[in-house]
Amino acid sequence: MRLLVTGGAGFIGSAVIRQVIRETDWQVINLDKLTYAATPEALEDCAHDPRYRLVEGDICDRALVAGLFEEHAPDAVMHLAAESHVDRSIDGPAAFLQTNVTGTFTLLEAARDWWAGRPGFSGGEFRFHHISTDEVYGSLDPHDPAFTETTPYAPNSPYSASKAASDHLVRAWGETYGLPVVTTNCSNNYGPWQFPEKMIPVMVIAAHEGLEMPVYGAGENVRDWLHVEDHARALRLVLEKGAPSQVYNIGGDAERRNIDVVRQVCAALDQRRPGNAPHDRLIRFVEDRPGHDRRYAMDSGRVRGELGWTPRESFESGLEATIDWYLANQEWWRAIRAGRYDGQRLGLRG
Ligand SMILES: NC(=O)c1ccc[n+]([C@@H]2O[C@H](COP(=O)([O-])OP(=O)(O)OC[C@H]3O[C@@H](n4cnc5c(N)ncnc54)[C@H](O)[C@@H]3O)[C@@H](O)[C@H]2O)c1
Repeated sequence: MRLLVTGGAGFIGSAVIRQVIRETDWQVINLDKLTYAATPEALEDCAHDPRYRLVEGDICDRALVAGLFEEHAPDAVMHLAAESHVDRSIDGPAAFLQTNVTGTFTLLEAARDWWAGRPGFSGGEFRFHHISTDEVYGSLDPHDPAFTETTPYAPNSPYSASKAASDHLVRAWGETYGLPVVTTNCSNNYGPWQFPEKMIPVMVIAAHEGLEMPVYGAGENVRDWLHVEDHARALRLVLEKGAPSQVYNIGGDAERRNIDVVRQVCAALDQRRPGNAPHDRLIRFVEDRPGHDRRYAMDSGRVRGELGWTPRESFESGLEATIDWYLANQEWWRAIRAGRYDGQRLGLRG
């Protein structure tokens, strides 16, 4: 299998590539623009493997993408490249439309050209796997049933709107041109190497440093959490066994209020650094995110029932391990905090 991964230097993409190099004999070409969010350090273990190659470049660059298809003849594309932080999408939506919408369009067109232009190529084996989010479905009230694959789209942020647009493009390229596409929508991921602008690393770092722990609004918003390694396993299963033109929702069945996750982080730090306890004295309720979705929940019955996927990590054990990872890898996040992101609040309208 020759795999073209986009955004493979990001949080989830790098977990996928590490897993693939570790557990399969596949070749991986990683096309990544190396934006502020990229963590190529997360791929150090793969860097010297002859089956892995990093290409620095933009998915919006049609000539570059077409060249990669010609040169590597991939059996599958896993498309993870995206601008991914909701708060940044509020401050500057243009980059989200450019990468998430135009970039996906560019990649689809390049894939279609290459796939349709190969004489005698049935395409039966080829897959264009688009990786998306639960946020495209909008917001649930406390007692609403979880999102299914047929829940109507109702994105509320520039980020989720751009992801929704890309999902629609992928669907259309499947229906209209017959490109063998498959889409997955997943809930909130957590784990090692997540850029320290996302909630769990923000809270672990603040608690560790004795800084204020900023909880948006009243902390009542509910997210479903999945460990990134479990997501990566689900993605590989869908890539290999998923039906063309199908959509699979992926979730951890681990709904938590933000405030409860933050208190769990505090309790874990109390155990590890009792001298600084209680860490929950650092919690501050701050102005809410504009358009903050109240609740997400995923019904992942299809990927569990049809493909046999099941997460291995519980939220409790996964969170403990993730906290330990951040405490053991301070050099990495300290360099980011001293350079490209110092922890300032983002995404307050106007
Ligand atoms: N993090 C989550 O909880 C979550 C949940 C569900 C779905 N997703 C989706 O999974 C995918 C990966 O998310 P992530 O958290 O790893 O994101 P991330 O921000 O950590 O990584 C994104 C990667 O894409 C690269 N990139 C950005 N623009 C690019 C461009 N124009 N061309 C090439 N590369 C580019 C970046 O350099 C970075 O390495 C995204 O599509 C996201 O929407 C994320």
